[in-house]
Amino acid sequence: MLSEVISAAYVALWISSCASSSAEGPYMTRALQLMSETPLIDGHNDLPWQLRKQFNNELNKVNLNTLETTQTNIPKIKEGRLGAQFWSAYVPCETQFKDAVRQTLEQIDVVHRMCQKYPETFMFATSSQGGSLSGQQSGHPAHHVPAGVRYLTLTHSCNTPWADNWLVDTGSEPSQHNGLSPFGNQLIMEMNRLGMLIDLAHVTEAVMNQVLDMSKAPVIFSHSSAYSICPHKRNVPDDVLIRVRDKKGIVMVNFYNDYVTCSKTANISNVADHFDHIKKVAGPGAVGFGGDYDGVSRLPEGLEDVSKVPRVVAELLRRGWTNEEIKAALGNNLLRVLSQAEKVRDDLKGKSPDDVPIPFDEVKSSCRTSYGYRNAGAVHSLGTLALALTLALQALVTGIVS
Ligand SMILES: *[C@@H]1O[C@H](CO)[C@@H](O)[C@H](O)[C@H]1NC(C)=O
Repeated sequence: MLSEVISAAYVALWISSCASSSAEGPYMTRALQLMSETPLIDGHNDLPWQLRKQFNNELNKVNLNTLETTQTNIPKIKEGRLGAQFWSAYVPCETQFKDAVRQTLEQIDVVHRMCQKYPETFMFATSSQGGSLSGQQSGHPAHHVPAGVRYLTLTHSCNTPWADNWLVDTGSEPSQHNGLSPFGNQLIMEMNRLGMLIDLAHVTEAVMNQVLDMSKAPVIFSHSSAYSICPHKRNVPDDVLIRVRDKKGIVMVNFYNDYVTCSKTANISNVADHFDHIKKVAGPGAVGFGGDYDGVSRLPEGLEDVSKVPRVVAELLRRGWTNEEIKAALGNNLLRVLSQAEKVRDDLKGKSPDDVPIPFDEVKSSCRTSYGYRNAGAVHSLGTLALALTLALQALVTGIVS
């Protein structure tokens, strides 16, 4: 049922290796210094999808220390000073109403197994507390958000029973809900209650605005860029940027050429233009990194894999960004958003879960029974969609590509 995207916050902490080197000049030296003080937290990486696509999730056949068929591997993570990563549990839209839930759970599982296989590199984190990215669960146990999923992208590139996707805004698909469905409203409130971040990458502008109206917690765009710089409907328009600022949320810049320049080619300077623009419109508190590595096929010249990310930081320094602004974009902004969402969760502690299931008619298909739905008519019944909601919340699907 959910063929959309969620993403989990599993954190890759590299422990040591604060290499040095000033091979690329004073801005690079300063970039690496700042990145050693404030670990980069990236909003979106599709390595788990590559593990499925290339290895059917058979991790025993993969060596992440030497893997060269992906844009992400352990040496590249270290060279790129990646401090924490939201690994996406993407499943394609074709799985919707078929095996989306199974595939999603398998993607979450492969992230867990990846962390277990490389404990010296990856630690699992579920909270902003307890030493930030240490992966400790501190006072806010992970079981509040099953499976450790910290954000849910409301759609991928297809409508879901709860929200319209960005393709509606291009005119290539009809709107199904005019934004969020009533169940979508329930979903937003439940995510606030659970302390899960709401990710607005991939949705229509109507959904963006409805969520910004409703959510008590800041929202994120885990991998989207600025529409004013490249008018692609996956990017964020200025009026929404301003609302994200007012809500204390964050837009994590996507490096996919098609969203950076609206063409097949791009360079580091083009990417930096998006950071500059979001900072100009929404302030340095609203900027972040969401590279979309291993989810996209075309990356800017000089940013071909995750090892190259410090070059963006060096370019921003060259453009006059202050150390504080850089640290905000690297990770402090996202940490602020996470702890704000946790505060909202704590404030809502007395609220009961909303267990009203999605109407059966909205999810009817030959693959689904109707057990529990009294008036579902005919033959089989339907399953408790409250359960489906729970699964939706745990599941993580995320948006690869586009
Ligand atoms: C990046 O590409 C733009 C065209 O989009 C070009 O004007 C600029 O000179 C390029 N910058 C570098 C550093 O190559």
